[in-house]
Amino acid sequence: MIRSSVPFPPRPSRATARTGTDAQSGATASADAHEVPGLRSPAAGFDQPFEMLHACHERVQRTLGLLARLREHLRRHGADAQAREAARDVLRYFDIAAPLHHEDEELHVFPPLLAHGSAAVVELVKTLQAEHATMARQWAEARVSLAAVAEGAEGAVPWSAEQEKGLDDFAGLYAEHIVREESVAYPAAQVLLGESEWAPMGREMARRRGG
Ligand SMILES: [Fe+2]
Repeated sequence: MIRSSVPFPPRPSRATARTGTDAQSGATASADAHEVPGLRSPAAGFDQPFEMLHACHERVQRTLGLLARLREHLRRHGADAQAREAARDVLRYFDIAAPLHHEDEELHVFPPLLAHGSAAVVELVKTLQAEHATMARQWAEARVSLAAVAEGAEGAVPWSAEQEKGLDDFAGLYAEHIVREESVAYPAAQVLLGESEWAPMGREMARRRGG
């Protein structure tokens, strides 16, 4: 079964976690395969934008987990109906929701860190920005393999070593990138922004999603 749930690793503790906020609430978000994951989160609202950002990361982890299970399924069973559906779900997430999440960070998380962060934090943010660009390039190539599966194209599988490596590189970088954001960038941004700035940030995030 491709869709078995994927345990999400514990979130690094945050220096400024809001009192009374369940830091793991996003981990319980529905993994309904038929919604567009990451566009909406039932476990966090835009009035808590950092919870939304955490929930987005949890969705990324879930979708990377789905991708890993899909790849194993393809090796064992080929591009059957279940595989085609899973490929469509992975494509929807990384085509639509992930770019919106990157915009959230580039508009709201990175600027205060670049303006007021320590030299080490500024260096990290530059790395994160470069990684967003790298992941976008990697995804543009890697998605071609998944789109062929999703469309049921003849000869879509087996994938070549190069295709497998493209997906390995994308998934590996994404997983490392999230850890860097969760452990350093988000806590530092929360300190710099302060709760009074969360409401306009959340409104802008919702507006860009048509909310
Ligand atoms: Fe992120």
